[in-house]
Amino acid sequence: MRLIFLGPPGAGKGTQAAVIAASFGVPHISTGEILRTHVGEETDLGQKAKDYMAQGELVPDQLILDMVKHRLEESDAQNGWILDGFPRNISQADFIADLVLKGDSEAKNSEGELKVINLDVPDEILVQRLLARGRQDDNEGIIRHRLQVYREQTAPLIDYYGQRNQLDSINGNRSMDEITQELKQVVSA
Ligand code: AP5
Repeated sequence: MRLIFLGPPGAGKGTQAAVIAASFGVPHISTGEILRTHVGEETDLGQKAKDYMAQGELVPDQLILDMVKHRLEESDAQNGWILDGFPRNISQADFIADLVLKGDSEAKNSEGELKVINLDVPDEILVQRLLARGRQDDNEGIIRHRLQVYREQTAPLIDYYGQRNQLDSINGNRSMDEITQELKQVVSA
């Protein structure tokens, strides 16, 4: 399984990715979580990423791509993975497409398969959910900026994956259980 969760901040990517990963026995790789660990541990990457994250900006690609490449080289990721929060722009999407293609040709595997799930939720519901959660970057001004960054840089990936027939869009404005049920069907199809 190679699955990408796409969707705006608060869409439920992390919530659903954790459930689906546990159910299918693959690692749940959240770039936001990895970055927050680096910030907490005050690593070099954490120091560089901290201000971008606090302001709701994307962390620059040259920091993110290396981080993701290393994570995907770890042993638990060799038989599949779920990416949550990556890719966030076209160049990150090109990077992961190349990585999957290269891995498949080295393994003489012709699958080249990536599935992408877009969780669709109205903006006002997203803002309510994130305000109720209250992470450090969950104040209203920063949430609205994250939504703007999403619209400008990440939302174009809906067309990118749609044109490649890799995308399923799911209504994310329902109970968590209903969403999980539909996701399991889509992922198994
Ligand atoms: P990241 O951690 O990825 O944050 P995000 O995209 O803003 O996503 P969230 O975690 O806020 O939302 P989610 O969709 O995962 O929803 P969740 O399941 O948590 O990124 C943080 C920052 O790191 C970025 O701003 C950027 O700076 C940097 N970064 C990360 N990746 C990067 C990359 N690839 N490139 C560059 N920079 C990067 O749910 C949210 C809340 O809603 C929870 O409280 C949950 O309980 C609730 N909820 C979930 N589902 C439902 C439901 N169905 N009904 C009611 N409530 C629900």
